[in-house]
Amino acid sequence: MQQHSWIAILDFGSQYTQLIARRVREQQVYSEIIRFDTPAAALRERKPAGIILSGGPNSVFEEGAPLCDPALFDLGIPVLGICYGMQLTAKTLGGTVKPGLHREYGHTRIGTDATCSLFAGLPSEFDVWMSHGDQVEILPPGFVVSARSLSCPHAAMFNEARGFYALQFHPEVVHTQHGTAILRNFLFSVCGCSGDWQLSSWVEETVAKLTRQVGDEHVVLGLSGGVDSSVVAALLHRAIGPQLTCIFVDNGLLRSGESEQVLATFRKDFKLNVVLADARAQFLEALKGVTDPEQKRKIIGREFIEVFAEQARRFKDCKFLGQGTIYPDVIESESPLKGPSQTIKSHHNVGGLPPDLKFELVEPLRELFKDEVRDVGRVLGMDNELLDRQPFPGPGMGVRILGEVTAERVALLQQADLRVQEEIRKLPDYRTIWQAFAVLLPVNSVGVMGDQRTYENVCALRVVDSIDAMTADWTRVPYDTLARISNRIINEVRGINRVVFDISSKPPATIEWE
Ligand code: XMP
Repeated sequence: MQQHSWIAILDFGSQYTQLIARRVREQQVYSEIIRFDTPAAALRERKPAGIILSGGPNSVFEEGAPLCDPALFDLGIPVLGICYGMQLTAKTLGGTVKPGLHREYGHTRIGTDATCSLFAGLPSEFDVWMSHGDQVEILPPGFVVSARSLSCPHAAMFNEARGFYALQFHPEVVHTQHGTAILRNFLFSVCGCSGDWQLSSWVEETVAKLTRQVGDEHVVLGLSGGVDSSVVAALLHRAIGPQLTCIFVDNGLLRSGESEQVLATFRKDFKLNVVLADARAQFLEALKGVTDPEQKRKIIGREFIEVFAEQARRFKDCKFLGQGTIYPDVIESESPLKGPSQTIKSHHNVGGLPPDLKFELVEPLRELFKDEVRDVGRVLGMDNELLDRQPFPGPGMGVRILGEVTAERVALLQQADLRVQEEIRKLPDYRTIWQAFAVLLPVNSVGVMGDQRTYENVCALRVVDSIDAMTADWTRVPYDTLARISNRIINEVRGINRVVFDISSKPPATIEWE
């Protein structure tokens, strides 16, 4: 990546750090999120065109507040501090920060000074998004104020000669007017970025790199049918063709027809070598009698590793193991500021392979965000149908069948879920829905069918909107669609006589039920 100009984003734990990285990449400038305490010497070596200090939840006064290496202000590289990043800039360079009496949160009108390069070409007043408690009280020597609001006299400051800029507000969020223009001014006027980073060239470079890296060796890849592993498969196939073998584990907990569909797509359309490990019976056997959700997850994870390892042993001569790790996984696992509770790990992440299997990892998507992964898929000519698939949990229906998982209950849920998928897909805004699925509850309820009293299963319908699965809201599905889903499930799926609609948001609920 380093032949392009790039921006280093030091992560101080803001919920918006990833958003900053995406906004920069949207301007065709490569960006990477790195640890807040990355030594200046390491940065000097990688020659970023600019450094952005992110926001963060801490106060610079707090004991243990994350600090950057002060020497990064001596590298001669432009720096943009955002929110906490501004306070840190002030504190490090000899200014002072005062604790705010009130937390300022939301839209604020600011007046700006057009002599500051960041505000060049912008109106003298506009609305920005603030979210802070502390604010800069005395500017560091050499800095002048470049924006003010009623409650924040130092809403932005800069030292043009040294290329240092700081904003108390968040230019990366959509609520800030001209936020993109401010970032563009930093990237292009201040840092002199070339703006030539493009996914199509990324694909070409990555294919060339993979070809070199793998040489004459072979790669084995766990294919789940999800977007990430599918795009890795397509990328590796482009690079090394028949030297790639994919292993697809059918755990029996997939959606109806999923296994056949994945195999057809990859074997027929992509002409990939795909080995099918039909482990349906093995998973069901291991899950017999188990009702505790955590235990179910553990069993499914363990069985997956076992089945995958058994298959992978057949390819012991393969030097490499391909993985669909994407950038958010890397950030989550490497950031010292994010606790393990925020990490969602899939069991498809085959990190736990037994010691006799020593593969070198190939993770070509490590530096991409999910939407960029989809775009890579499109560059590679993959179908939108495949690329726009909703996330599906690794343990599959195992987390959507509450209580014991049996072959009958899997079949019941598959049938109900199929109707949900068919009806939801008819909605014009289907693609904006994050996930839609059915959940089988461990209760029976009374009903009447014809003249007969029934006592059968209850199925819950879960449909959510979300950006990143960290928060979610229930989708306002049109009543007619709800009615059709309910009618179809109750009339067409024997064994379910009641459908309920989940109207909980996350938090405090979660997306899945288990
Ligand atoms: P929750 O239920 O925690 O789910 O709100 C957040 C997102 O993660 C997915 N999910 C999983 N994905 N393995 C996965 O690969 C899992 O064990 C798992 N559990 C939840 C869930 O579908 C949602 O998109």
